[in-house]
Amino acid sequence: MIEEVQEEAPAEFSFPPSAPVLYEDIQEAQKKRKETGIKELNQVLGGGVVQGSLVLIGGEPGIGKSTLLLQISRDFAAQGEKVLYVSGEESLEQIKLRGERLGIRNEKLYLLAETNLERVLLQAEQLSPQMLILDSVQSVFSSKLTSSPGTISQVREVAHQLFRFAKKNNIPCFLIGHITKEGSLAGPKSLEHMVDVVLYFEGERDHNYRLLRAFKNRFGPVSEIAIFEMGNRGLQVVSNPSAFFLKERPTHEAGSVVICTIKGTRPLLAEIQALVSATLFVGNPRRMTIGLDHFRSSMLMAVIEKKLGYSFAGEDIYLNVAGGLSINEPAADLGVLLAVVSSLKNKAVPQDVAVFGEVGLSGEIRSVSHPMPRMNEARSLGFKTVILPEGNKASLEKENIANMKLMGVGHIKQAFQIIF
Ligand code: TYD
Ligand code: MG
Repeated sequence: MIEEVQEEAPAEFSFPPSAPVLYEDIQEAQKKRKETGIKELNQVLGGGVVQGSLVLIGGEPGIGKSTLLLQISRDFAAQGEKVLYVSGEESLEQIKLRGERLGIRNEKLYLLAETNLERVLLQAEQLSPQMLILDSVQSVFSSKLTSSPGTISQVREVAHQLFRFAKKNNIPCFLIGHITKEGSLAGPKSLEHMVDVVLYFEGERDHNYRLLRAFKNRFGPVSEIAIFEMGNRGLQVVSNPSAFFLKERPTHEAGSVVICTIKGTRPLLAEIQALVSATLFVGNPRRMTIGLDHFRSSMLMAVIEKKLGYSFAGEDIYLNVAGGLSINEPAADLGVLLAVVSSLKNKAVPQDVAVFGEVGLSGEIRSVSHPMPRMNEARSLGFKTVILPEGNKASLEKENIANMKLMGVGHIKQAFQIIF
């Protein structure tokens, strides 16, 4: 329960009244975009950040939001643009300390440590920067309201005023919002409808990689992702994510299968790991999944038991996606099944085989979207054989595919015959 105190709405309708306009009289304004120094980030934004747009970047504390935005600021400032970075959380010295690690030189980057929104905007009006960053929405408050910073009414007011500032001055504004694992700290979530673009920065604490994805974008697609690695000089783009996630794959070990998955619009190879071992909990064996949907995995186990006659009644099953990735698409099904059976039989899946395909309840293997990019990704990482749904293979038949053996399967039995 979060208390929301009813506030007097600030009576401030200083906009000129607008009148209806005929559709065909409206001029299509090409939105001007600015490119950040990070190509992958530009893609996530739909080709750069749009002038006059408000971008919310959400993520857990410590994930690297301030680092990312300081890097963006650095790159813009290096192009000779005036950037104002406002922090309500850290002192100027702290920000500078981070800046040193990021290699910021004497650029036109202005810092301001301030928590009062009206004062922030006053300073911004005076400086008239070409980009404004506010870190974070929870630490800044408007003196129009009496509630404390971080409450819903405050974060909304802050976002609202910043939105108007962005439109009025026609500059891009970035707003940072902390989100906890439970999605609580209701603030930033309740801002999603108010801003132009919502980006989420995700990752596991114990892993160095970070995933940036668009959740909403009024000026572009929401399917792109960018993968970064946190190093000691800030965030570096991972330009070959598949190689990154496969680099510590065990060789010739049972229970490990490489799948071709899609994250956003980007194909990605990932390693599914399974461990099947005799249970100590007779009658109630363990089923653990990390990075995969638990219910879907249970369903797949039932399919193997029923259709292939294996029994897991006395076995614990642990499933994991290596590297802390999480995969949420049915195309991973076939890989999950193969990994489980590989571990059960203690027989390794050949090293140069990658798989994808959805599995239905009858054990049939169903086509998935984007077979070509999946297959290409496997080929570019040196895989020699791809096991894929028959339907997808048929659609690839017309293409000219060199150096790759495609094996179409219509039922899980066929896939098991090929591998084991
Ligand atoms: P930060 O950007 O402060 O996170 P957020 O603003 O999302 O709360 O960065 C958090 C972590 O990143 C911090 O624990 C230190 C680490 N870090 C590095 O590992 N290398 C670096 O170069 C920088 C700047 C930070
Ligand atoms: Mg921060």
